[in-house]
Amino acid sequence: MSELIQVGASRPKAPAPDQLELRFSAKAISELAALRTHYPDNKSCILPGLWIAQREYGGYLSPEAIAEVAHRLGHSYAEVEGVATFYSMYTTAHAPGRHMIEVCTCLSCHMCGAYRIVDYLEETLGIGLGETTADGMFTIHEVECLDACDRAPVLQVGDQYIGPVDTSAIDALLNKLRGETNSTVVQLADSIVQVHLRDTEKA
Ligand code: FES
Repeated sequence: MSELIQVGASRPKAPAPDQLELRFSAKAISELAALRTHYPDNKSCILPGLWIAQREYGGYLSPEAIAEVAHRLGHSYAEVEGVATFYSMYTTAHAPGRHMIEVCTCLSCHMCGAYRIVDYLEETLGIGLGETTADGMFTIHEVECLDACDRAPVLQVGDQYIGPVDTSAIDALLNKLRGETNSTVVQLADSIVQVHLRDTEKA
């Protein structure tokens, strides 16, 4: 059974409105307010609002995170959850590790040994695709073309593309990430929020 079908079958329920605990920081509230002035309606703000939530909730769009976006934008939980679960860059299935390693396995990367990289990561970390190490440090995923085919095989960590990679580059990457205390998952969400803010400033 695919992960998507499993996720669809087991989606956690939305928190009751009277049990909602709002967690957006002052910075997040002001970012959302700035973005709202640059879109024709609140619905257009759902995508950047979800990125703010993904950052604020530690890289995971939990039901509480989705409910907070719905509450702040005045849309239904179902509507915001539908957007969040449609796009694979939002993390809705489970809380990721501190670092998410996303390996492209599309054609060019496949031809250049992407599955050798996947196998090596699985063996080195002792987890399968879509899983997180017991210490909460790493999650690994395979993804579609990252639009960096000239660097195949390539992978993404946070907002960085790394490639072409081989097993020794993977060893160096894992060592570097083990020493990194900040979550690259959160850092990616913040980078995307900042891009949205810059784009709306220019508009
Ligand atoms: S096929 Fe991997 S980046 Fe395009």
